[in-house]
Amino acid sequence: MSAEHKPTVLIVGAGLGGLIFGALLEKQGVPYTIFERSATIKPLEFLTISKRLHQTGAYKETLEPYRPSDYSPFIFIFGSAGIAQYIVARPQLHALFLKLIPSHKIHFGHRVLNISEEDDRVTIHLSNNTTFEGDIVVGADGAYSAVRQRMYEKLKAKGELPKSDEEDLPFSCTCLVGQTEVLDPEEYPIIKEPLAQFAAVLGKERPYTWTIFTTPAGTLCWMVMHHLSKATSKAALEQRFRNTDNAEWGGFQAQAMCDETRTFRIPTQDGKKTLGDLYDMTPKDLISMVMLEEKVFKTWHSGRFVLLGDGAVTAIHDAISLANLLYAMPSKTSSEVTKIFEEYHKERYPVVMEAFNISQLMSKITERGLIGAVALYLVTRMPQWLWRLSLVKQLGFRPQAGFLKAVETNGTVQARPAPSEMKARAVYEMQQQQQGAASL
Ligand SMILES: *[C@@H]1O[C@H](CO)[C@@H](O)[C@H](O)[C@H]1NC(C)=O
Ligand SMILES: *[C@@H]1O[C@H](CO)[C@@H](O)[C@H](O)[C@H]1NC(C)=O
Ligand SMILES: *[C@@H]1O[C@H](CO)[C@@H](O)[C@H](O)[C@H]1NC(C)=O
Ligand SMILES: *[C@@H]1O[C@H](CO)[C@@H](O)[C@H](O)[C@H]1NC(C)=O
Ligand SMILES: *[C@@H]1O[C@H](CO)[C@@H](O)[C@H](O)[C@H]1NC(C)=O
Repeated sequence: MSAEHKPTVLIVGAGLGGLIFGALLEKQGVPYTIFERSATIKPLEFLTISKRLHQTGAYKETLEPYRPSDYSPFIFIFGSAGIAQYIVARPQLHALFLKLIPSHKIHFGHRVLNISEEDDRVTIHLSNNTTFEGDIVVGADGAYSAVRQRMYEKLKAKGELPKSDEEDLPFSCTCLVGQTEVLDPEEYPIIKEPLAQFAAVLGKERPYTWTIFTTPAGTLCWMVMHHLSKATSKAALEQRFRNTDNAEWGGFQAQAMCDETRTFRIPTQDGKKTLGDLYDMTPKDLISMVMLEEKVFKTWHSGRFVLLGDGAVTAIHDAISLANLLYAMPSKTSSEVTKIFEEYHKERYPVVMEAFNISQLMSKITERGLIGAVALYLVTRMPQWLWRLSLVKQLGFRPQAGFLKAVETNGTVQARPAPSEMKARAVYEMQQQQQGAASL
C-alpha cells in the first residue's frame, strides 16, 4: 500500500488487544492513535516475565490431587494466560506491549463521548471537547465497549441489529486476581522451582475455583473465581451498576470477596497456606476484581467501525488477523474497508465461538449437577491421546503477522494457516522480491 492509500486508524482502548494492534500498525508504518479512558497504566518492571510451563495440577478442596496429568486440561478454564508453554501474568504482558507504542501515539484519560461517520471519514469526540478524524475506528475497549454501543445504536435505528445483539451482556462469574510481593522461598518453596508451577483447586461445596501460579520474579499470581447462580448474578449486576460504570469493581467489593475466601486452602508444598496468606502479601493496588463476560456478539463491524475481541488470546489473535488484512488492503475506499472487515469476521467468528463453547463447557464443571459431573469425569480421566488431540486443535491456531519475517515453527504440530496471514504474506513476499530486484 503506498503512503496515500494508508488509512488513518483510531483505536479506542489500550488493553492487550488495542496495544498489540497499535504495535502491528507501527511495524507497517500505518498512522494510528490510541485513546484510553483510564488516566495511567501502572508501570511494572520485570525483565523476564514468564516461566516455562510443563504441567498443571488440579486439586479437590481437600487438596487431594485429581489424576496427575501432564499439562492438565484445566488450563482452559482460565483460558488466556497459558499459551502453549509459557504462563505470564496479564499486567506484565500488558506492560511489555505498552513499550512497543511510542508515547505520543497514546492518549490516556480520554473518554470517547461520540463517534460520527460521514463522507468516508470517522470522527471521534473526546471528553475534553477535542475531535480526531480518521478512516477506521477500532473498538478495543472491552466488554462495555463505547465503540460497540455507538455502532449498535446506529444499526438498531436502521433496524439492522440482530435481536441477540440487543440483549444485555450476561455474566455468571466474578473474578478476583492479584500478585503477591516477592515471597520468602523458605516459606513458599514452590517459587524456587525453575519451571512455572500452576495449580487449580475446584471447590466442592462452594461455587469457587482458585488458582495460583509462580513467576520468575519470585511472586505468586492468584485468581479466585466465584461462579454465580442466576439469582446472585442479577444481584451482582445491579450492585455493579450502582457503584461504577465499567467492567471493574471498586475496592469495597474486592475486600468483601477477599474476606469471604480467606480460609480457602492452596496447594503449596505443606498444604498449610490459605488464600488469606496470599492476600496479606499482596499490595492492595495489585488486586483487582473483574467480571468475565459470557457472550459473543454477532455483529463485529459496520461501515468504518470494527471491534476487537475481549480476553487475552482472542484479542491478540483478532488484532493479528485485522492487521494482516489491513496490510493487504489495496485502497481505503469504503468498499475495500467493508470487504476486509467481512473477511475478518468470517475468519475469526468461528474460532471465537469454538473457544467460547469450550469455556462454557469448562465452567459447567464447577456447577454441581449432572452436566458438571460428566464434564469433570471426562476431563480428569481423558486418555492421553484424546487430550493430545484436543491440545493440537486448541494450539493449532497460532497466527503470525504476514508482513514480518516468518517465525519458523519447528514443533511437531503445524500451525493452521489463517487466510488473513497468507494474504499478507503474499503481498509481503512480492514486495521483498521487488526490493530485491531493485537493488540488483
Ligand atoms: C484533548 O486531548 C487531546 C488528546 O490528548 C489533546 O490532543 C487535545 O489538545 C486536548 N484538547 C484540549 C482542549 O485540551
Ligand atoms: C453522536 O453523533 C451522531 C452522528 O453524528 C449524532 O446524530 C448524535 O446526535 C451524537 N450524539 C451526541 C450525544 O452528541
Ligand atoms: C466542553 O464544552 C462544553 C460546552 O461547550 C463546556 O460546557 C465544557 O466545559 C467543555 N469541557 C471542556 C473540558 O473543555
Ligand atoms: C457452539 O455452540 C453452539 C450452541 O451450543 C452451536 O450452535 C455452535 O455450532 C457451536 N460452535 C462451534 C464453532 O463449536
Ligand atoms: C527449533 O528451533 C529453535 C530455534 O530456532 C532451535 O533452538 C531448536 O533447536 C529447534 N528444534 C528442533 C527440534 O529443530
